[in-house]
Amino acid sequence: MTPLRIAPSILAADFAHLGDAVELVADTADLLHVDVMDGHFVPNLSIGPPVVKALRQVTDLTLDCHLMMTNPGEYLEAFKKAGANSCTIHIEIGGTSELIKQLRDLDLGVGLALNPDQTYDSVAPFIADVDLLLVMSVFPGFGGQSFIADVLRTVQAAHAEITERGLSTEIQIDGGIDTATIGLAAAAGATNFVAGTAVFGNPDPAAAITTLRNTAKAAVAA
Ligand code: DX5
Ligand code: ZN
Repeated sequence: MTPLRIAPSILAADFAHLGDAVELVADTADLLHVDVMDGHFVPNLSIGPPVVKALRQVTDLTLDCHLMMTNPGEYLEAFKKAGANSCTIHIEIGGTSELIKQLRDLDLGVGLALNPDQTYDSVAPFIADVDLLLVMSVFPGFGGQSFIADVLRTVQAAHAEITERGLSTEIQIDGGIDTATIGLAAAAGATNFVAGTAVFGNPDPAAAITTLRNTAKAAVAA
């Protein structure tokens, strides 16, 4: 069985004390989700390679960068140099084949994301070429939004094809994941769960991660 992985999103951490936040989850998180917003693909700005570089100096955790950007291709090398392990690009911006090739050439893990208003068909042609499919369960741009349950159909469709073809593509889900929604996503076939508010909004982020993982496990077992 594919292991269930929890990816805290540092977007919900205290940026003035980012190193402390990472230390709090160092032993329980499976990877760190780094939300990069360009003020163009999404109506918000966040962080970029300099912060990835700073994180790299304080943690050995996998740094998985979610690039909510119109032109990620111009920055992939900078993310690699900063110490990113993987980068996820969005299907909506086009040029997907070229971007996947660029990521492979840089030896970065390859993720492909789709927004809630897309169907699985939009990413299906690439499913065997990527390491991770990121199903957005909110419209990207802000943390703390409510989970959009319609996207579970996308998760189910991806899971069905990945299983049928024996692929190793991981299904990640991002947005509004908490103890009430993680079980739904896990039952639909997601195995990698991004959680910002549910982790860093909790006074005990490590305990929150353990609870989320156990809740997902219970849903899969049910
Ligand atoms: C949304 C980001 C998400 C977000 C998740 O634009 O891509 O990763 O930070 O935050 P929560 O868990 O608070 O919905
Ligand atoms: Zn994200």
